[in-house]
Amino acid sequence: MKHKLILIGCGGMARSHAGRFEDQEERMEVGAVVDVDRCRAESVSALLPNHPPVFTDYHEALPYGDVVLQVLPHYLHASCTIDCLNAGKHVLAEKPLANSREECLAIMEAAKKNKRVLMVAYCMRFHPILREMQRLIREKVYGECFQLSIWTEQLTVREGSHWLRDRKLLGGGQLFSHGCHYVDLMLWMMGRPLRGSHTGTKLGTPWMDREGTSNVCLEFENGALGYHFGTWGARGTRMGYSFQAHCEKGLLDFKHSENCLYLRGKIAEHVPGVPEDCKEFKLLDLGKEFAKPTKEELTHFLDCVDNNTCPETTPEESLAGLDVIWELYNAEDEGRLADFSKLDFSAFDKYGK
Ligand SMILES: NC(=O)c1ccc[n+]([C@@H]2O[C@H](COP(=O)([O-])OP(=O)(O)OC[C@H]3O[C@@H](n4cnc5c(N)ncnc54)[C@H](O)[C@@H]3O)[C@@H](O)[C@H]2O)c1
Repeated sequence: MKHKLILIGCGGMARSHAGRFEDQEERMEVGAVVDVDRCRAESVSALLPNHPPVFTDYHEALPYGDVVLQVLPHYLHASCTIDCLNAGKHVLAEKPLANSREECLAIMEAAKKNKRVLMVAYCMRFHPILREMQRLIREKVYGECFQLSIWTEQLTVREGSHWLRDRKLLGGGQLFSHGCHYVDLMLWMMGRPLRGSHTGTKLGTPWMDREGTSNVCLEFENGALGYHFGTWGARGTRMGYSFQAHCEKGLLDFKHSENCLYLRGKIAEHVPGVPEDCKEFKLLDLGKEFAKPTKEELTHFLDCVDNNTCPETTPEESLAGLDVIWELYNAEDEGRLADFSKLDFSAFDKYGK
């Protein structure tokens, strides 16, 4: 049976998702598209081969499908996701799960009660290079990773009364909205964090109510460190995104602009046949055309629905990452180091200790 997907929200990210729907044409078609702005919904419907019906109220669209892709502003995540789960839909919900712990727990309860798949759309978890980095780090193939460095530069400007500018509607600032991807990646790759710090600034991004540039630093149980530097104010960029893992036997370097994973260091010790002075070895090359891994993400979601299995990006993992962010914000406001010792990271134990 082909799934019928209800697309709720037709803004920037929904268009990015819709651009990859044709890759799933054997498995699903879009049953309905929804946006309070009818023109936006109509323009997304026009992009799709079957021109699905358009609604401005998601409640009316619910009979038109069995699975939902929820791509709404953050302050609407909880109410919409819960309504969809209560209507018996499986939901792929855009990150972050919701703006408060209570809302996250209510969503998780609705998924449990209705026995539906609830997956959080942390698309970077489905990036083949990040998956390989995670495996190499967790299996200590090049020794212990002692420093994970993540760097993201974007120019994200929103005009007027857009929800993203408002800390209450967004749920925070750049750290909460975009940094949640990278806090999640750090926990997935490195394990339990013990302490950390966050410093954010609005300087350079005056359109933001809370920070538009964020520096977060975590210390993990084994003594390793990780950081994410992220800005929404980049007027220029050399690297765009960068992910580097310093391990005892070499550096894993994901050059996002090239879609390649390199190993740097004494390569001859690890790769037979390379010259003694080789300092750089390409471990993986996805090719320039590889885009955001939303196709891989949606494939995984549909697999979970078909096989009645638990998604990799569970709401429990998502909540643990958001707990870290909320504690980082509290500590920043109170001028102290963030203390994660009382948080529950058991959802990540399946990746190793
Ligand atoms: N995974 C990623 O890489 C990534 C990137 C960007 C955004 N996102 C996420 O996608 C979500 C949406 O972000 P965006 O950038 O597309 O925002 P956006 O503002 O561009 O789009 C949101 C859309 O929702 C519509 N909307 C508002 N209220 C509605 C309602 N009650 N019912 C139906 N539609 C309604 C708006 O009219 C708008 O078209 C957020 O959760 C964001 O964090 C994820």
